[in-house]
Amino acid sequence: MLPEKLREDFPALSRLRNGKPPVYLDSACMSLKPKQVIQAINEYYENYPACGGRGRSQHWFAREVKEATEKARERVAGFINASPEEIVWTKNTTEAINLVARSFKLEWDDVVLTSDREHNSNLVPWLELEKSRGIRHEVVPSREDATFDLEKFKDMLSPKVKLVSVVHVSNLDGYALPVEEIIEIAHDYGAKVLLDAAQSVPHRSVDVRRLDVDFLAFSVHKMLGPSLGVLYGKEEELRELSPFIVGGDTVSDSYYNRAVFLPPPHRFEAGLQNYAAQIGSAAAVEYLSRVGMRRIEEHERALTEYLSKKLAAIEEVRFVGVTEAKLRSGIVSFRLERRGRSLVAPSDVAELLDRHYNIMLRAGDHCLHAWFNARGIGASGSVRASLYLYNTRKECDLLVEGVERIVEMEG
Ligand SMILES: Cc1ncc(COP(=O)(O)O)c(C=O)c1O
Repeated sequence: MLPEKLREDFPALSRLRNGKPPVYLDSACMSLKPKQVIQAINEYYENYPACGGRGRSQHWFAREVKEATEKARERVAGFINASPEEIVWTKNTTEAINLVARSFKLEWDDVVLTSDREHNSNLVPWLELEKSRGIRHEVVPSREDATFDLEKFKDMLSPKVKLVSVVHVSNLDGYALPVEEIIEIAHDYGAKVLLDAAQSVPHRSVDVRRLDVDFLAFSVHKMLGPSLGVLYGKEEELRELSPFIVGGDTVSDSYYNRAVFLPPPHRFEAGLQNYAAQIGSAAAVEYLSRVGMRRIEEHERALTEYLSKKLAAIEEVRFVGVTEAKLRSGIVSFRLERRGRSLVAPSDVAELLDRHYNIMLRAGDHCLHAWFNARGIGASGSVRASLYLYNTRKECDLLVEGVERIVEMEG
């Protein structure tokens, strides 16, 4: 387990409500921020709050912004073993996926394959392309036990499949898809692969070279940093993408009848950027690297197993998604049911835990409406506790105590 001392780096954890500290179990949505990240952002606003970007180094402050943001791109690239030219700043994972959806060459009748456990961010863009460009979006169904069905995936591949776009680690249950195999098989068929890495890059070591993945999207706000997204693309793949949002800073020259686009990544970064967030992202990856991604992953796995085992002892707990704790990391999703019927609505569980225990977690469909709809559960979804490096066994105990009390109250 990681030392509890690192909690002192997170100012939000020192707050009290009703004399009790917060129990933050919602990191899959937004992580807490350590003071090192907050300081880096404040330094930008206090000391050199100017424009950065290419061609803006005429003055002192602008040069400092340029230097700091270039360093940030290098740091974030290094974190996933990419080169800086392969890193495009976006608003979030959603925008990064939309960039690929809008700019990757897809024509009428081309197939995009996804899994059946995609976040809306990796589902709705393809549904829209079906309508606007006549592409075909096909969904690989999970096995009975909710794991990825590689055999079914192979059956669904054909030369028509141009892109496989799947989640790396699911925000439903922390299950990691066998992405190494998926990428290798997809490449054998000539398809490119986009990974939604919103729940993997913050929690485990991800090496884009080793994976040989073509595109990868993630959000810095889920990994101790400020609100910001990243699209990684192999250099040769980014060059093939058409421009997305265009305007200032995307071109090297323009005339009244044409514009000359910059090479990637700049051609995809339109307008003045969120320099403070870029600078904060460097501090976030430095912090994570200092703690060590392997240790973070082990810490979360140990907590997941601990929490799952204790929750499983409560008769009314039904895990959602993959039930085997060893196959899940950092996320525990469950419902309270008795004799096949919902005992307490997930939203009520979340509200009671917040009110009585300061436990913050998420209830509902977690932007996985399609998954829940297909299983007849609908909008009530599940209660989801998501863990990170600052969580402790004591916090898991408190969650279990809270759930036990709620079940008892129902008689
Ligand atoms: C697996 C997954 N994909 C995509 C997203 C969307 O991320 P963002 O809202 O940062 O764009 C999330 C957010 O929870 C997620 O968990």
